Amino acid sequence: MGPRACLLGLLALFVAGKCSYSPEPDQQWTLPPGWVSLGRADPEEELSLTFALRQQNLERLSELVQAVSDPGSSRYGKYLTLEDVAELVRPSPLTLHTVQKWLLAAGARNCHSVTTQDFLTCWLSVRQAELLLSGAEFHHYMGGPAETHVVRSPRPYRLPKALASHVDFVGGLHRFPPTSTLRQRPKPQVPGTVGLHLRVTPGTVGLHLGVTPSVIRERYNLTAQDVGSGMTNNSQACAQFLEQYFHESDLAEFMHLFGGSFAHQASVARVVGQQGRGQAGIEASLDVEYLMSAGANISTWVYSSPGRHESQEPFLQWLLLLSNESALPHVHTVSYGDDEDSLSSAYIQRVNTELMKAAARGLTVLFASGDSGAGCWSVSGRHRFRPSFPASSPYVTTVGGTSFQNPFRVTDEVVDYISGGGFSNVFPRPSYQEEAVAQYLSSSPHLPPSSYFNASGRAYPDVAALSDGYWVVSNHVPIPWVSGTSASTPVFGGLLSLINEHRILRGLPPLGFLNPRLYQKHGEGLFDVTRGCHESCLNEEVEGQGFCSGPGWDPVTGWGTPNFPALLKTLINP
Ligand SMILES: *[C@@H]1O[C@H](CO)[C@@H](O)[C@H](O)[C@H]1NC(C)=O
Ligand SMILES: *[C@@H]1O[C@H](CO)[C@@H](O)[C@H](O)[C@H]1NC(C)=O
Ligand SMILES: *[C@@H]1O[C@H](CO)[C@@H](O)[C@H](O)[C@H]1NC(C)=O
Ligand SMILES: *[C@@H]1O[C@H](CO)[C@@H](O)[C@H](O)[C@H]1NC(C)=O
Ligand SMILES: *[C@@H]1O[C@H](CO)[C@@H](O)[C@H](O)[C@H]1NC(C)=O
Repeated sequence: MGPRACLLGLLALFVAGKCSYSPEPDQQWTLPPGWVSLGRADPEEELSLTFALRQQNLERLSELVQAVSDPGSSRYGKYLTLEDVAELVRPSPLTLHTVQKWLLAAGARNCHSVTTQDFLTCWLSVRQAELLLSGAEFHHYMGGPAETHVVRSPRPYRLPKALASHVDFVGGLHRFPPTSTLRQRPKPQVPGTVGLHLRVTPGTVGLHLGVTPSVIRERYNLTAQDVGSGMTNNSQACAQFLEQYFHESDLAEFMHLFGGSFAHQASVARVVGQQGRGQAGIEASLDVEYLMSAGANISTWVYSSPGRHESQEPFLQWLLLLSNESALPHVHTVSYGDDEDSLSSAYIQRVNTELMKAAARGLTVLFASGDSGAGCWSVSGRHRFRPSFPASSPYVTTVGGTSFQNPFRVTDEVVDYISGGGFSNVFPRPSYQEEAVAQYLSSSPHLPPSSYFNASGRAYPDVAALSDGYWVVSNHVPIPWVSGTSASTPVFGGLLSLINEHRILRGLPPLGFLNPRLYQKHGEGLFDVTRGCHESCLNEEVEGQGFCSGPGWDPVTGWGTPNFPALLKTLINP
């Protein structure tokens, strides 16, 4: 068959073989633990699939991100609007036309685009989708803590070759909704003082029984005045991708128990997406409760499970929402991640571009660094550390975790051994961290064997905060010892919102993408965490130990944890 036969209109029969390509040949397909197959989907069932269209001018976009985020540039803080971003990245007329024609011919209905026109979501029947996406075979699955139902294809899909320069990938086929990485650990024992915790009440003689907003505020040197003024339209957001909800009544109870010493807002300003009626999730409760008590008295949005249909990928849907609304909160915190190696490179690169679009608009996007230390996996029989994505994206600020040196006192912080960190195998080291990472690699006395990590990759986290032993109210019950970088991320995000508040009051632009400034200032305004190592592969070569923290930046706690007044001082300058 000659190349002339590779036409778009031809049916699936011809799409196989030479006339087709696989956009995501490296996308892993595995049924995650705890999920079961419920059998093949009915051919007449309706699916909502997401098509990622090829964008333009990405080089230019990356130069602009560099310029608006670098305090040394004359464009610093001059962020692009969503419309500016759309002008730049919008797919070419040929791409828009080719993809639309193809979808129309396949019977796709009700296609919706976003402001930047680089995504389309369309409705198709299973029968139509299986013809259109040659090789795909849709099945029902059920799993996760909330017994979520999804439709996915265990078999790879191919697209007509004529689309190769127009479509990055099709979302809703392979990737499962994320599972929470939250950890609930056993309560620590005070050495030699068994039972002490039963006799003291929180707040007395410097002892505390776990991390609460007042412990956070004490450690990070916040005063009662460090809250939102109510005189700006400053706002912040957290995003949930599990079938998990927070309850307003839990937030109220949490603030009643723990919010006595600082002004705060009693409810969430806006929920984007659907809030189901189910049980509250600890993860969702934690994010909202700590974002709203660190970034106290600041208007807060919650993006809640925006995957509204069984065939949607919730994380992808959140990215679409960002590209479809021009006025968004300045700070976004996200406790979500996948193993970098489990995702196709088309998907990873495209998600990274979406994060770059957010950075261009001056959004500060924080991701949890993960809760498995350096991670571990086996590649052709050899162990390696396992980086996590989007934590490894060069366009986000990644937050690691710490513990108090003495778990019952507000003391210096040490590494929380779960704190995710390491080096990307996909993204090269960005220039803003060149010096800091080179310094770490050349001076750390405890580097793991070089075969375990890719020293040339983007290194993370960038910063850290307490991640160990939090109190959370969920379903009316106060729950102790909740841990994970899911906790440190909203805390750091809330403090950046307080700094934005001061900047906005002074007529300055919000912080935007923080990393270039953070690294230029060598982590000024942060407590350097210098003690402890995180976990990794359990074998003789590394004996469960990944990287270790040290003076300055390290791939366990980044530059360290916030000393609010000092951080404000360094980040308030134009
Ligand atoms: C984007 O927003 C427009 C206008 O509000 C809406 O009509 C459209 O459906 C949205 N797109 C998606 C993919 O939801
Ligand atoms: C902040 O806290 C640290 C340790 O808790 C303390 O040493 C420091 O003096 C405090 N104040 C400022 C303004 O940094
Ligand atoms: C908190 O915000 C409200 C408005 O939302 C404002 O009236 C109040 O003064 C703020 N509290 C403090 C202590 O600034
Ligand atoms: C905040 O106010 C500015 C100026 O009035 C406006 O441009 C921006 O869209 C507002 N932001 C939000 C999130 O409402
Ligand atoms: C190491 O990282 C670079 C990007 O910095 C990547 O191109 C390369 O493939 C990675 N090597 C391995 C073995 O993963």
